[in-house]
Amino acid sequence: MNILVTGGAGFIGSNFIYYQLEKHPKDKIICLDALTYAGNLDSLKRALSEPNVTFVKGDIADRQCVNTLFENHKPDIVVNFAAESHVDRSIENPQLFLQTNIMGTQVLLDGCRKYGITRFHQVGTDEVYGDLPLDRTDLFFTEQTPIHTSSPYSASKAAADLLVLAYYRTFKTPVSISRCSNNYGPYHFPEKLIPLMISRALHDQSLPVYGKGENVRDWLYVKDHCAAIDLVMRHGRVGEVYNIGGHNERSNLEVVKTILKELDKPQSLITYVTDRPGHDLRYAIDPTKIHDELGWLPETSFDEGIKKTVRWYKENRSWWQSILDGEYRNYYDKMYGDR
Ligand code: NAD
Ligand code: TYD
Repeated sequence: MNILVTGGAGFIGSNFIYYQLEKHPKDKIICLDALTYAGNLDSLKRALSEPNVTFVKGDIADRQCVNTLFENHKPDIVVNFAAESHVDRSIENPQLFLQTNIMGTQVLLDGCRKYGITRFHQVGTDEVYGDLPLDRTDLFFTEQTPIHTSSPYSASKAAADLLVLAYYRTFKTPVSISRCSNNYGPYHFPEKLIPLMISRALHDQSLPVYGKGENVRDWLYVKDHCAAIDLVMRHGRVGEVYNIGGHNERSNLEVVKTILKELDKPQSLITYVTDRPGHDLRYAIDPTKIHDELGWLPETSFDEGIKKTVRWYKENRSWWQSILDGEYRNYYDKMYGDR
């Protein structure tokens, strides 16, 4: 089986490639990635030494590049991780999000139509459902929850999902979509909450918590997400959406305090900064469908996952330090400077 993994040099994509190599060592993997600020070949170092992994640098929205790749590598499955993925950056500059997340997905879908595949799997997000109230802990996102987006990021991801479903209905392209809650784990770019807080705490720097830190996210260890995608793209029903989440709801403040405790650092590092505009209050996934149909259950509890993640960042300092020393430094100063 030939598997085209787009965005494989990013956080979840790189973890997914390692998962594939472990679980399906005979499959051939082609990774297509534009190597934006979020893509990092260092994350794939070990994978790229395997004979069945090929890396192609290119943009999913570049039709010629995508078509050549289909002709040369004849993928059976296409799994699309490639995206602009950071809500804060989408508030700063929405345009790029529409280009990559919507137009890029359309170019991939056209490639699938033209060359034929057995499955196109779109890696989606629970953020397409909008948010839930903080005081209604009885409410969860199901696959029937209406699309109700808040940020340019989630709007672009929702548009992509709708296109994917339109290609299924109109052209019978064999598609599936998974919508997952917030991931954490190794190779997570240090601008997202958990790696940002770990890397800054390790430097004894202030930890910028938006608003009062009351917003709730439903955290899933990245390997559990990779296992779920693998199941859906191979065994999930065509034309279906599957929610992925492990019932690990935590407020941002709880997460930051857990990290500080794990690192034995003082709570005085916490600094409250101006809230994110349009900040979603609470995300919480109902994963009943993927459990009932495909038997998926998360294996890693939040307590265990955060310990593993903190250990990984301590042991792999050079991976994130080189990011912090580069262009990212300007981003942090611009985003947080006068917040
Ligand atoms: P990431 O930002 O870490 O990685 C994105 C990757 O895509 C990078 O390697 C980047 O170079 C590549 N890329 C960006 N634009 C490209 C383009 N035009 N052509 C080719 N490659 C391009 O993101 P991530 O956190 O790994 O997320 C992967 C996918 O999972 C995204 O689609 C995201 O919406 C979705 N998702 C993420 C989370 C999360 O918590 N991180 C949760 C649910 C869903
Ligand atoms: P993030 O990791 O950006 O993921 P998302 O916005 O997709 O959920 O943020 C997770 C939560 O952490 C979100 O509620 C915003 C909050 N947050 C902070 O409080 N401070 C920060 O510096 C960042 C990056 C996020």
